[in-house]
Amino acid sequence: MYNYVDLDTINFDGEPPVDDTARQFYYMAGCKEIIDKKTKEIGRKLTACVKTFGCQMNSRDSEKLIGILEEIGYMIIEDEKADFVLYNTCTVRENANLKVYGHLGILQNYKKKNPDMKIALCGCMMQESHVVEKIKKSYRFVDVIFGTHNIFKFAELLYNNLTSNRMIVDIWQDTDKIIEDLPVERKYSFKSGVNIMFGCNNFCSYCIVPYVRGRERSRAPEDIVNEIKKLVADGVVEVMLLGQNVNSYGKNLENPISFADLLKLIEKIDGLERIRFMTPHPKDLSDDVIEVMKNSTKICKQMHLPLQSGSSRILKLMNRHYTKETYLELVKKIKASIPDIAITTDIIVGFPGETEEDFEDTIDVVRQVGYDSAYTFIYSKRTGTPAAIMENQVPENIVKQRFDRLLKEIQIVSNQNTLKGVGNVEKVLVEEVNKQQEGYVTGRLSNNTVVHFEGSMDLIGKIVNVRLNEAKGFYYLGTIEE
Ligand code: 5AD
Ligand code: SF4
Repeated sequence: MYNYVDLDTINFDGEPPVDDTARQFYYMAGCKEIIDKKTKEIGRKLTACVKTFGCQMNSRDSEKLIGILEEIGYMIIEDEKADFVLYNTCTVRENANLKVYGHLGILQNYKKKNPDMKIALCGCMMQESHVVEKIKKSYRFVDVIFGTHNIFKFAELLYNNLTSNRMIVDIWQDTDKIIEDLPVERKYSFKSGVNIMFGCNNFCSYCIVPYVRGRERSRAPEDIVNEIKKLVADGVVEVMLLGQNVNSYGKNLENPISFADLLKLIEKIDGLERIRFMTPHPKDLSDDVIEVMKNSTKICKQMHLPLQSGSSRILKLMNRHYTKETYLELVKKIKASIPDIAITTDIIVGFPGETEEDFEDTIDVVRQVGYDSAYTFIYSKRTGTPAAIMENQVPENIVKQRFDRLLKEIQIVSNQNTLKGVGNVEKVLVEEVNKQQEGYVTGRLSNNTVVHFEGSMDLIGKIVNVRLNEAKGFYYLGTIEE
């Protein structure tokens, strides 16, 4: 944990401060007083469980929420039978929404047995008004609801609930605020996500993100660099720079700066070993970024370049602003510049009107690029997006068949890539003890491929040389080299 402020030094009797960060520390002190009292009453620590759905942005947000919960006196546990349960939700696909409603049913039963239990919901799903209406009507036992734009207000909202026992709902439509310096509790000691920007201006026609995460806002480069320096001082060796479209980083700042220049600043940070980023949009990945990557010793040899579809006709309907041909050109340029780079992607199957011919274009791109791995999604209709009212929604059975065919293709090309690495000695960041095989650890290559090898816990967080002995589909088995 860093950004530590001793809450006992905060005078909670006065008026709440106006400055956003100071105000939240003030409410943290208020929450802590209540939680401490309750802890004494029941003779044990209160427990809290945070469940995260969705992407790395949400994971990073959850680390911030956990930081606050720990600061005010909760003990974090995995079990949802906790005194406080928070769901950080995702709404990018319908499935994610359904999961949350399912979980809420279970929580209601837990709350019947533990009436002091608190339940909070936040994240992208809460930015949709029909969701909040449904929860207010049918899930009255929820205590706190907030959205993506005001997660920094968590302590204040929780305090309001703890002191009133009423359902607190606070959803903002958008924001230009970026609140710095609140507590964070990282999941991993040696690697961390770092937000460089929030929101998205692209409005891909299938995607709900611009509606629930608002317009693009970039953090100031000095705030990003300072955060990374603090992380490095705290043991972090790898950062993942996070943004919905990192290529447009810095454009809306008072002193504009490009993503390529931000990368150069971060490269200079002593003690930082690895830099990753996601997600670059293929429509505006600049030559400068490719050049910086080529010359960098820290930026990892991986480019996540979401394709979505290989058909130029579908890409136009998706509002992606590139074609099959320009995408392939871009990949060619990247590979020519950085030959050992791994290219990974996101693909949607079954976008409205997708024909067999369109789908074959997607397969063709998969073969031509030879992805190292790909996240594949079945198109999910999101109310409020332009694609939701497009005609020719593709029948489910056809989508499933295409999805399976796509998975097979990806497996073939990615296995071929993994095979090419056998025999090489690579630098590997050791991430965890292998859960399947005792005496083994698991780490990642610069290109993000996983490798398992014999080793012990004390290697976690270290970068070691590993010989890749055997390719097993998506991953390797290896041995450590002295
Ligand atoms: N249906 C299916 N997949 C989607 N994605 C975004 N919106 C949808 C949707 N409506 C996928 C895209 C994006 C990834 C994060 O989620 O592939 O890159
Ligand atoms: Fe969604 Fe497109 Fe923005 Fe990515 S770039 S978050 S797919 S709208």
